[in-house]
Amino acid sequence: MAFKKTKIMKIKNICCIGAGYVGGPTMSVIALKNFQITVTVVDINKDRIDAWNGPLDNLPIFEPGLSEVVKETRGKNLFFSTDIDSAIKKAEMIFISVNTPTKTYGEGKGFASDLTYVEQSARHIGRVANGDKIIVEKSTLPVRTAEKIKEVLEAESRGNKFEVLSNPEFLAEGTAIEDLLNADRVLIGGEQTATGKEAISKLLEIYASWLPKERILTTNVWSSELSKLAANAMLAQRISSINSLSALCEKTGAKIDELSKAIGMDSRIGPKFLKASVGFGGSCFQKDILNLVYLCKFYGLEEVAEYWHQVVKINDYQKERFANNVVNYFGGDLSNIKLTILGWAFKANTNDSRESASIFIAEKLFSFGAIIEIYDPMVSKSKILNDISEYWMLDYDNYKIKRPIKFLKKINQIDKKTNAILILTEWDEFKTLDEKSFIIFDGRKIIGNPTFSIGN
Ligand code: NAD
Ligand code: UGA
Repeated sequence: MAFKKTKIMKIKNICCIGAGYVGGPTMSVIALKNFQITVTVVDINKDRIDAWNGPLDNLPIFEPGLSEVVKETRGKNLFFSTDIDSAIKKAEMIFISVNTPTKTYGEGKGFASDLTYVEQSARHIGRVANGDKIIVEKSTLPVRTAEKIKEVLEAESRGNKFEVLSNPEFLAEGTAIEDLLNADRVLIGGEQTATGKEAISKLLEIYASWLPKERILTTNVWSSELSKLAANAMLAQRISSINSLSALCEKTGAKIDELSKAIGMDSRIGPKFLKASVGFGGSCFQKDILNLVYLCKFYGLEEVAEYWHQVVKINDYQKERFANNVVNYFGGDLSNIKLTILGWAFKANTNDSRESASIFIAEKLFSFGAIIEIYDPMVSKSKILNDISEYWMLDYDNYKIKRPIKFLKKINQIDKKTNAILILTEWDEFKTLDEKSFIIFDGRKIIGNPTFSIGN
């Protein structure tokens, strides 16, 4: 059966499945720039939807500029709901923006992306769809997933037709709104058939309402899916490259920031993403590279897999190295040593702590006997405790009576007698710490003369 053009000539209603760090901000901006389209963001997580519908100063995601965009659109052409069926039925175009974590079971465990939530979404759409729809992959997915999504959709549905587009998201947290409003490029992959091209042009129109057409690239589906994994791998590779050199700087007396500047001034290399750090975090770099490694192995490309795997290995090494420096400074035993951890978010200007280096480093230091206090201006105590119970191998419950972690509400609550401060996130308010009053291990290179700074 041919794709019935007339049924979806105009996009009037968009549904986005997944109201997370991508779905929320992306749909807010699409709604802001397309007042003629009604955008409904749905999620199975009722608390999250309630928070999106709640006070603007307490949205579930902290992003500079986000509350202003939501204020402008919410209740007008932007809606947040748990009524997934209605939103699917009403929409001509449906974005899938659900989480795709690393698999923790079965084939590909520890490497491949877990596509459970994507498959569930596709099944849900297929089951309740009442007409032909354009489905947009917004989640980051392994190359050739569109094929599987289409199979699931068509198996579930009763004769409806679906065009599946790949439209990966390149925003970074902390600058999401700016990245969306002023994207370097938008990528739309679709089938190179008449109906595929028509679907591409409908999505292109939506972005063209605020971005110049030259920045909207159209490709085949597989190039689009793979470009997203490749972009994240290349960005993370730059960080691991500079972090690996920071170790050599510490041995030789060279200074990593001077190296970054010298290297980055070569216009072929460029200055961005060369900031040495305690290691990259965030929900995506590690998971996307591990997924790439899995894909390479799946296609029998062992050497290519090993090349990219090394980016993650160096990142683990960097976190480990930083923690070891602290342990060694105190002679290998941290019993009765009080350490203040500044920063739990994986980078500044976000309340997200997924895969944050702080989680690993705090555990290591705690396991060496340290007494720990933690401060982050945006990540709540309950979130930090949740990370500890979910990701530490060590069972904090067994220690917390004797050695409870203290959570500070403000930076001025730092214990003046703390044995050392560790800066793990580059929040502005940490930059003015008095380096003469404290022993500081600076994992973000934001202090002039700390006791220890990554890469000198
Ligand atoms: P997230 O965990 O913040 O949000 C995903 C949401 O999907 C959750 O609220 C979850 O409840 C919901 N969900 C899961 N299954 C569902 C279902 N069947 N029906 C309805 N809702 C469902 O994740 P995120 O950070 O927004 O990432 C989403 C995708 O975008 C991932 O593939 C990620 O790799 C990619 N991505 C993320 C970023 C980022 O900065 N976080 C940037 C670019 C791309
Ligand atoms: C990253 C990419 O930058 C986005 O383009 C992509 O869309 C997103 O992943 C994704 O797919 O999720 P994000 O993880 O939000 O965005 O933030 P980044 O600014 O890339 O920072 C990632 C980590 O690298 C942070 O821990 C940051 O502190 C660290 N980093 C970054 C460095 O250590 N050095 C640098 O020079 C840059």
